[in-house]
Amino acid sequence: MGNVFVLDHPLIQHKLTYIRDKRTGTKEFRELVDEVAMLMAFEITRNLPVQEIDTETPVTTATTKVLAGKKIGLVPILRAGLGMVDGMLDLIPAAKVGHVGLYRDPETLTPHEYYIKLPSDIDERELIVIDPMLATGGSAKDAIASLKKRGAKNIRLMCLIAAPEGVEVIKEAHPDVDIYLAALDEKLDEKGYIIPGLGDAGDRLFGTK
Ligand code: URA
Repeated sequence: MGNVFVLDHPLIQHKLTYIRDKRTGTKEFRELVDEVAMLMAFEITRNLPVQEIDTETPVTTATTKVLAGKKIGLVPILRAGLGMVDGMLDLIPAAKVGHVGLYRDPETLTPHEYYIKLPSDIDERELIVIDPMLATGGSAKDAIASLKKRGAKNIRLMCLIAAPEGVEVIKEAHPDVDIYLAALDEKLDEKGYIIPGLGDAGDRLFGTK
């Protein structure tokens, strides 16, 4: 069964408070999401495999560690997922980036895929699907299914905030996928917003609406 990890590092939680605050404007919101994404990337990559190599320091030869070449792919779900990519690339600059475009029917809340472009070797990559808000779970569920259909084997899901309903949907549909969150909130409201949440992540990131 996939695990749910709430990354309760004090810096992540502090920044998340200001991300939630309705008085935070677009510029600051974007910067904070970027910073939290970077901090989350630090936590999420904690278990990447390393290998030992011999390194000549100015004074001796030492056995040291380097990453063991595990290939990473970031897959933001458009459009709000884009807001977390740069922060993650600060720490994982060699990661390749695929994109999945899904929109939510405002009436039925059902997601529809309108765009997908992925690295050719997704079957060899550790993929991190990125969506700031895991609300009903419909978009992330469908995006992960799309990746699996195209050969992906190792997938993790990274979100800023999730509703318990969305977490259950992913656990049920994709029990092999670990979920990384900055916060697990209370519930969804009747319009599909996460409560207390942060409002519409895409609108707040891009200054729309
Ligand atoms: N998407 C958002 O951006 N916010 C929510 O609260 C739910 C879905």
